[in-house]
Amino acid sequence: MKKIIIIDGGPRKNMNTAAMLAKVAEGATQAGAEAKVVRLYDLAYKGCISCLACKIKGRASNVCKFKDALTPVLEEIAQADGLVLGSPIYFGDVTGQMRTFLERLAFPWLSYNDYSMTAPKKMPVLLIETMNGSPERNNSQGYGSMEYCIAAALGQPEHLNAYNTYQVKNYGNFELAGFSEEAKRKWRDEHWEQDLLKAFEAGKRMAQHIMA
Ligand SMILES: Cc1cc2nc3c(=O)[nH]c(=O)nc-3n(C[C@H](O)[C@H](O)[C@H](O)COP(=O)(O)O)c2cc1C
Repeated sequence: MKKIIIIDGGPRKNMNTAAMLAKVAEGATQAGAEAKVVRLYDLAYKGCISCLACKIKGRASNVCKFKDALTPVLEEIAQADGLVLGSPIYFGDVTGQMRTFLERLAFPWLSYNDYSMTAPKKMPVLLIETMNGSPERNNSQGYGSMEYCIAAALGQPEHLNAYNTYQVKNYGNFELAGFSEEAKRKWRDEHWEQDLLKAFEAGKRMAQHIMA
């Protein structure tokens, strides 16, 4: 069975990023693929520690050799047929957990002999972001420089962003006066179901693509 690994780089189990990724998984499963969600915040792991074990002469590896809770995830991605990454935007970037994961994923791809980027295998990739910003006004740099690595090693990624998300379920309970709950509600009523549908369709499309 074809397998899609879905990496959740957000801390909240029942909010926007998790909901988008659950829909991707639902779409992929409906189309007949296996979809596995990995929650990075549930794992104890480090970023690249620069051990250079992946670049030892005669034993170079394009999968990270450092052993911790991320090891089985990185090994599973190496064998997977599709990859989905999802993260809330924090201070303009993906979360620290996502970035830390990406260091471990991508550094072994990079050859310091010729600067090529080679993953164990190419596969379709979907990059998801959720944020307060709007399509017209946002500070997201998304996956930033890591996107170049992903594109070079795995293939050009597809993008899906959910904008102006509900950051809390009840704005009245928090010091969040900079946001108009009314405007948030209007946006959510007009966009959120569509965002979830787009996530479902993207998961389904990826599964159909890898099974074709
Ligand atoms: C620490 C922190 C920093 C944030 N920084 C930004 C930001 O720079 N830009 C933005 O548009 N949203 C920002 N947000 C809002 C989140 O990206 C947004 O609420 C997101 O949908 C949360 O995802 P979740 O519901 O899956 O946790 C920030 C939220 C937090 C907690």
